[in-house]
Amino acid sequence: MYRNAKNVSYYMIGQGALAQLDDLVSARRAVHDGPAVYFLDHFFEDKNLHDRLPVMPGDQVVYVDTTDEPTTEYMDVIAAKLRAQVSELPCCMVALGGGATMDTCKAVANLMTNPGKAEDYQGWDLVKHPAPYKIAAPTLAGTGAECSRTCVLSNVRKNLKLGMNSDFTMFDQVLLDPDLTRTVPRNQYFYTGIDTYMHCFESLTGSYRNVVVDALAQKAVEMCKDIFLSDDMMSDENREKMMIASYLGGMAAGFVGVVHPVSAGLSVALHLHHGIANCYALSVLEDIYPEQHKDFMTMMERQGIELPRGICADLTDAQYDALYEGTIVHERPLSNRLGPDYRKILTRENLIDRFKRM
Ligand SMILES: [Fe+2]
Repeated sequence: MYRNAKNVSYYMIGQGALAQLDDLVSARRAVHDGPAVYFLDHFFEDKNLHDRLPVMPGDQVVYVDTTDEPTTEYMDVIAAKLRAQVSELPCCMVALGGGATMDTCKAVANLMTNPGKAEDYQGWDLVKHPAPYKIAAPTLAGTGAECSRTCVLSNVRKNLKLGMNSDFTMFDQVLLDPDLTRTVPRNQYFYTGIDTYMHCFESLTGSYRNVVVDALAQKAVEMCKDIFLSDDMMSDENREKMMIASYLGGMAAGFVGVVHPVSAGLSVALHLHHGIANCYALSVLEDIYPEQHKDFMTMMERQGIELPRGICADLTDAQYDALYEGTIVHERPLSNRLGPDYRKILTRENLIDRFKRM
């Protein structure tokens, strides 16, 4: 069976594009009676972003706590609250934030039209009914959440990190305004942006390939190199480039390789955020990705980014076990790069030795 791939329906790119959000939301109000619902990263709670949004009486503004990555329980809480506050389905749901905020918008939107709990839809194509119309305006670039067909959710009870993979999870409209990333702290900008580079080179150096994915991933890698090997990754030009690279990288969404499993181990065992965990992972994979490792070290140096060392130096045996198990469980990506005998290369000792070097 050939996969029938879906893309985001509409997108616009350009400095100041946020001013057009009003038009996009008004067009939705014209065809649907319900309110608009805005999801904003809690980082914006005391900023003036809210005042720049076309919020009308009856609309809802939800501040998303992104201290930790989204959980299924948190999605259930937001969805229940929203259902109690609005009597009609929203005319549109708008996300302004990074990956966590966009994924929250996607998950809650699915729960507006599908009964039950978030965990019921963790998996592939389990969402039955189309969600309300969704618009994304990323304020951080790199995860590709603006154009992926999933929303990554941690299910604490089941000890499972899995999204609602569905065509219904995708945004209908993406608005890429590089002005929105102007005030991101440099470290966070780097850790998030470099996620695109990682996804894409992992996919390009794997064995499960696809020509369209390769073309998008190659372009995204080229753009990331331009950005992170330049003097200032946050120049006006580079911030726009980063948004486009993230968008292309998200569309590529091929199979990852070894970086993401090691990163997932760090997230599960030590609760590290995805972006910085990726950086730690690649920093000890010099034998598996020599060329990319070398470029990455140069990128960090050029952008003045430092990874504090020794994060896994003195852990308990139980923690090292959790790091190993949380990595080795990712069979598909590991075999994508290392072949079916990946366990012979990444033995427990080999992996723990790498963690100790971080
Ligand atoms: Fe990633």
